[in-house]
Amino acid sequence: MAKSTSFICLNLSLLFCLVSATYYSRMGPTQMGLGEEKFTHLHFYFHDVVFGPNPTTVIVAEPNGKVNDSVPFGSVVAIEDPLTTGPERDSKEVGKAQGVYASISQEDVGFLMVITMSFTDGEFNGSAISVLGRNMILTEPVREMPIVGGTGAFRFARGYTRARFYSVNYTTLDAVVEYDVFINHY
Ligand SMILES: *[C@@H]1O[C@H](CO)[C@@H](O)[C@H](O)[C@H]1NC(C)=O
Ligand SMILES: *[C@@H]1O[C@H](CO)[C@@H](O)[C@H](O)[C@H]1NC(C)=O
Ligand SMILES: *[C@@H]1O[C@H](CO)[C@@H](O)[C@H](O)[C@H]1NC(C)=O
Repeated sequence: MAKSTSFICLNLSLLFCLVSATYYSRMGPTQMGLGEEKFTHLHFYFHDVVFGPNPTTVIVAEPNGKVNDSVPFGSVVAIEDPLTTGPERDSKEVGKAQGVYASISQEDVGFLMVITMSFTDGEFNGSAISVLGRNMILTEPVREMPIVGGTGAFRFARGYTRARFYSVNYTTLDAVVEYDVFINHY
């Protein structure tokens, strides 16, 4: 593609256009149509269904010479887990957690979570947050994981989760995890 001078038009209170040979400009939240920064607490339940006819998790990779462990060190799991308002699977669905997690601890059971949580109900319908963090499920009763960004209503999001098991079925390894998420966003 031919190199060309970039043409940026910003429609402010008055229209001004600038012709520039650079690729950046300084902007403030107002110029980007963003309102006041807000602080939001989200509370929902995450359903990890491992076995049965409709699992929400699949193991996509396992290490060679795996140890006898349900999710051996090095395994990668893909998930698409429903998020609901209550701990019951049939309570109202408000979104989905989609992503992968990798088993990252040889001594404990821990995962690196790389997940987006997208919401499908209410004010945050169509908006999503990105979770990236360490989830030590056995050694930490409450796991903090950073919220590193978001889309829609959660643009510029930053914050953290507090995740704890609500219930675990040790036969099937199905789990319900209660999430409290605290986010600053516009
Ligand atoms: C793996 O561990 C389980 C439970 O400790 C045991 O029942 C099973 O026989 C083991 N499997 C292998 C292949 O060692
Ligand atoms: C969420 O947004 C989608 C797309 O705009 C719309 O089809 C759907 O009805 C909305 N859901 C709720 C519960 O508001
Ligand atoms: C665990 O799941 C199995 C299979 O669905 C079920 O039979 C069992 O009752 C469950 N255990 C608990 C404690 O809920």
